Amino acid sequence: MNKSKITVIGSLNIDMVTETPYMPNQGETIIGTAFSSFTGGKGANQAVACARLGAEVTMVGCVGQDSMADQLITALGKEGIVTDYVKPVPHQATGIAAITVCDKDNRIIVIPGANHCLEPEDVTALEHVIAASDMVLIQQEIPFRTVEAAIRLAKSLNVRVILNPAPAVKLSAELLEMVDVITPNESELAIVLGLDGDGERSPEEIIGLYPHQIVMTHGKDGAFYKPADGEISHEPGREVEVVDTTGAGDTFNGALAVMLSEGKTLEEAVRFAVGASALSVTKLGATSGMPLRNEVEKYLAAGSV
Ligand code: RIB
Repeated sequence: MNKSKITVIGSLNIDMVTETPYMPNQGETIIGTAFSSFTGGKGANQAVACARLGAEVTMVGCVGQDSMADQLITALGKEGIVTDYVKPVPHQATGIAAITVCDKDNRIIVIPGANHCLEPEDVTALEHVIAASDMVLIQQEIPFRTVEAAIRLAKSLNVRVILNPAPAVKLSAELLEMVDVITPNESELAIVLGLDGDGERSPEEIIGLYPHQIVMTHGKDGAFYKPADGEISHEPGREVEVVDTTGAGDTFNGALAVMLSEGKTLEEAVRFAVGASALSVTKLGATSGMPLRNEVEKYLAAGSV
């Protein structure tokens, strides 16, 4: 089978990961247990996930002119990802994410650096790349004007778009109409829709408010999904030994993009994405646990729940 072509437009970061037995209180200093650094950024992570799961991937983004940029380009290259359109920009450091992993969960602060230099013109200049893609996958760690330009361009070229609205902002009805699938988690969806944060709505209630096709991730509970005019369905999460959930959402998005770009149904794509993201949390670091396609297929065939 020919590989599907996916263009990922987004961020590239170096993740500085600190492990700690508990979160410090405000003003408190504590001794952590370990420090490691990994390649990361939602864009680069999703590109890696797509490549490992069987797509031909092109990454579009910006890095600085520093050793962290070299590290990222080398890592993506090893995954077979085309990095010709990852632009090195002067006077800006490559993006950084300060990540604290504690009790199998994480807190992340991103300093975008060069990621914020990806302008709409950088994307519109790549019309030939987008036009040759089966799917465009975008997140929101790059300037919002660039996200909008990329969605408009893909739409005008009839290329399908998955938008992972993270970090979330309220999105206009006009923009949402141009997106084929959005993939927020529950709190991101509330922000996208401009709802107040009363936290009282059930997953079904909140996803029911969205008028188009959507897949809403729900942590260890898997994902809820709904075609534009269809029923809400739930794909339950899988039981796994969790080490680090960083990058689970990115694995999910990559897997979803690969499956949908190959013509799988929404149901098949979500089931595969839940399986892939379950496997991804068993190692420390966003991409360390990202599975290969045959690993996901084997895992799902074994009927793991
Ligand atoms: O989704 C996880 C990613 O978010 C990390 O790799 C970090 O770089 C931030 O972008």
